[in-house]
This record gives sequence, C-alpha cells and structure tokens, in this order.
Amino acid sequence: MTAKKSLKFLISAGPTREPIDPIRYISNYSTGYLGYEMVLAAKKRGHRVVLVSGPTAFKKPAGIKSIDVITAKDMLKALKDNIKWADCLIMTAAVSDFRPKKAQLKKIKKDTQKTTLQLVKNPDILKSLKPYKKGKIFIGFALETHNLYENAKKKLKSKGLDIIVANKKGSKSACFGETDNTYYIIDNSFNSNILKDKSKSYLSQYLIDKSFKVWYNLYK
Ligand code: CTP
Repeated sequence: MTAKKSLKFLISAGPTREPIDPIRYISNYSTGYLGYEMVLAAKKRGHRVVLVSGPTAFKKPAGIKSIDVITAKDMLKALKDNIKWADCLIMTAAVSDFRPKKAQLKKIKKDTQKTTLQLVKNPDILKSLKPYKKGKIFIGFALETHNLYENAKKKLKSKGLDIIVANKKGSKSACFGETDNTYYIIDNSFNSNILKDKSKSYLSQYLIDKSFKVWYNLYK
C-alpha cells in the first residue's frame, strides 16, 4: 500500500450564536480568522478540507465544501455528519457553552417583568465526537485568562485530544482577529512547544504540518 500524501481535514471555525429572541443572541468575540487561515494552510499543502463555520464576515475559501451553522447544536450535527470522512478534526470554533433555555418567538419588550435569562448547557462538541475518534487525530484550542497550562492539559485529557493549542487572553494580548500571539502547542504526552509572537497564518501552517506528522506516525 502506498503511503498517503494528503489528509482529509474537518475544520470548525467562528463563534456560535444562541438565540434569545428573533432580535438577540448570546455569542463571543470570535471572528473566525484562525479557522479560515487553517483552511488556507491545509489547501496550500494539497489536503482536502470540509469547513463548518459559524457566522463570520469572511468569504468562503474557493474549492472546498463549507457548511454554515448558527448554534452549537447545529455545529455538532454538521461535524457529526462529516466526521467519518475525516482524518483530522481541528476545532478552532469558539462554541457558546450555554444557550437560553427557551428562545422566545417574539421580541422581548423592555417593559417585561421577567428580567432573568435562564440558561442551559450546550453539548461539548469534542467530547460528543470522541466515539468517532478511532484512526483520526483531534486538535483543540484553549483560550484562558489564568492557569493556562493546567487548564489546557485538563482539556487535552478530558476531550481526548492529540494536541491542544493554548494561549492566554490577557489585557494586553489580543486573541481575536489578526494580531500576533504566543501559542503553546501541547501534545498528549504533555510535551510542549512555544511559538512566540506568531501570526495565525504561521500557527496554521505549523499545525497542519504537525497534524500530518502525528497522523502519519500513528496510522500510516
Ligand atoms: N469546545 C467544544 N464544545 C464546547 C466548547 C468548546 O468542542 N461546547 C471546544 C473548542 O472548540 C476548543 C476546546 O473545546 O477547541 C476548548 O474550548 P474552551 O472554550 O477553551 O473550553 P471549554 O471546554 O468551553 O471550557 P471552559 O469554557 O470552562 O474553559
């Protein structure tokens, strides 16, 4: 059997939005930039890509299948539908951990007496996809404000990842959008590599190449 030269990457990007009513939602500051850079980096190396994207302002990269989603539940479904196809899942999406218990069908008016929003937990997408992991590599991200290493290592283990990319959201370091940042790439033996002050484009190419090496060593 000849060795594979390219892989199939399933990449999630952007935020999810969880509706409160037809006008409002809960979300986060994710722009989707990292996920779209990841798609370009994979394409540049000749890999095949399916993109599952929450709402972003970016144009869909040409020549790949992309699926638009809004909520975390939509994102989970789209990823489940495509996970069997993939060799490598890269979960850059900033999934909303909570959603309003009930999205109101009509706009909530400001003279309402009920001013408390009841939230329920969304599924953890990476954990939900664990049963499909055999023969694949999973990569996740951890954006933390404190205890960066400890939190990232816990996520790496609890989500069954091969690699986690940790970075810190401090008051100075901007993590959303196009600015450079410092990334800690941690593998499942807790070996880590630091990429200091690198662009998301640099990080993306590094991770795509690393994924290929890890996949090749495990499953070739
Ligand atoms: N993630 C996921 N499903 C969720 C939340 C996050 O699959 N419901 C993924 C993200 O795409 C990311 C990784 O898990 O790759 C870590 O996400 P992060 O938001 O840092 O961590 P959480 O698991 O949400 O934990 P916490 O918010 O408590 O830090």
